[in-house]
Amino acid sequence: MRILVVGSGGREHALAWKISRSPLVSAVFAAPGNPGIAQVATLVPLKLEDHGAIIRWVKENRIDLVVIGPEAPLVAGLADRLGEAGVLAFGPSAAAARIEGSKAFAKDVMRAAGIPTAAHETFDAVAPALAWARARGGRVAVKADGLAAGKGVVVCGDVAAAEAALQAMLVQHVHGAAGARVVVEERLEGPEASCLCLSDGERVRLLPAAQDHKRIFDGDRGPNTGGMGAFSPTPNVTPAVEAVVERDVVLPALRELSRRGCPFRGVLYAGLMLTKDGPRVIEFNARFGDPETQPIMMRLAGDVVPALVAAAKGDLSGVELPVDPRAAVGVVLAAENYPGTPSRGDVIEGLEAPLDADVQVFHAGTAQRPDGAVVTNGGRVLTVCALGDGLDSAAARAYAAAARIRFRGMQLRRDIGKKP
Ligand code: AMP
Ligand code: GLY
Repeated sequence: MRILVVGSGGREHALAWKISRSPLVSAVFAAPGNPGIAQVATLVPLKLEDHGAIIRWVKENRIDLVVIGPEAPLVAGLADRLGEAGVLAFGPSAAAARIEGSKAFAKDVMRAAGIPTAAHETFDAVAPALAWARARGGRVAVKADGLAAGKGVVVCGDVAAAEAALQAMLVQHVHGAAGARVVVEERLEGPEASCLCLSDGERVRLLPAAQDHKRIFDGDRGPNTGGMGAFSPTPNVTPAVEAVVERDVVLPALRELSRRGCPFRGVLYAGLMLTKDGPRVIEFNARFGDPETQPIMMRLAGDVVPALVAAAKGDLSGVELPVDPRAAVGVVLAAENYPGTPSRGDVIEGLEAPLDADVQVFHAGTAQRPDGAVVTNGGRVLTVCALGDGLDSAAARAYAAAARIRFRGMQLRRDIGKKP
C-alpha cells in the first residue's frame, strides 16, 4: 500500500513511523511533514488548507490510504472531499468532527446520549453566563465553542475569574469567532485520562489508555500547553474503568452520531476526569491526541495499518490490537518561551546519538536549514519516547535519551509519568 499522512507534528511522526513498519506498506508520504518524519516517509510540500491540491496529488500518486492527523482539516471536510474523489481516508467527516469542532454540539450529543459529563449551559452574552457561574460560586470552566488551538478553556476558581474569562471571549473576542459562543460548565475534580478508540461508526477498538501533562511546569503548575508529555498505561484507568468508558461514553456517543446521520469513522478521543462519582467527559476530540499518540504507537505490538484501513472502510469486526505490556513514556522538549511565542531557529544538537530500538525521538516543531542543521521551528520541538518495564523504567530511559539533546532555551518537565 501507498499511504499519505497529513500533518507535521509529533503525532504524525509517530503515526508515520508505525505505518512505515508495516509489511503491507510499500511507500509512506507525509504532507507537509517535518525533518524527523523525513527519516521514515517522503515529504510532500502540500498546504493542509488546499484540499484541491491534496486530492490531485493523491490521485496522481496512486495513494491507497490517507491518514489525517490534525483537527483543522477534518473539521474543514478533507475526509469528505477525499471520499467524494474515491480515495480511502482515515478520519471522520466534517459533520462527525463537529464533536471536537463545536463544544456546544459535543455537549448536545452528550446530553442526548446520557453520557456522564459536567452540567453546563451554552451562552452568547456575558450577563446570563455570569449569573450561571455566580450560582456555582465561580467554580466553572469557561470554554470557547469553536477550535482555539487548545487554548480555549479557562478553569475558574471564583466569580472574578469567570467574569474575566467571559469578557475576554464574548466581548474582547480573544478567540475570534470561535469564542462568540461559550459553554460554561461546572468545575470537576479528579485525575485526567485520555481514552482513545478506533471506530468504524459502530464498533470500537480501545487503544491503550494514556495520560497527558498539560501544564508547562512540574507539579502541574503554570499555564496550559498542548501537552508536555504523556504516558501509557495509566494506573487510573483500570480494566473496569475502561469497560465503563466503552459502555457509558464511547458507544453511546457513536450511536448518537449515527442517529444524527453522521457516523464517526476514525479515532474518537475521550478526555476524561475520573471523579469520585465515576468518569466524566471533559472533551471529545475527533483525532489522535498529541503527545498521547507517541507512547500509544510505541505500545501497539501489531500492525496498525489493517486497523486504520478497517476503520476507514467501516468494518472493524475482524481487527485486533495487541498491546505491548511494557509502559511507554514520552517527554516533550519545548522551545524557549513556550507556550507563549516560541523562539525559532535554535540549532538542535544530539539528535544523531545512536538510539536503542525501544527509544524514539519524534519531531514536531523542527526545520532543516540549507546547511543541514536541524533547528527549532515551533513550540513543542521533540517528543522523546521510551518503552520500559513499568513507568519508572520507561521514564528513566526517556530522560536518559533526552539528556543527550540540547538547544538554547530548551524546556522540559522532570515529572512525566510520575502523576498519581
Ligand atoms: P480542553 O482544552 O478541553 O482539553 O481543556 C483543557 C483543560 O481544562 C483540561 O485538560 C482540564 O484540565 C481542564 N478542564 C476542562 N473542563 C474542566 C472542568 N469541567 N472541570 C475542571 N477542569 C476542566
Ligand atoms: N494532548 C491533548 C490533545 O491532543 O488534545
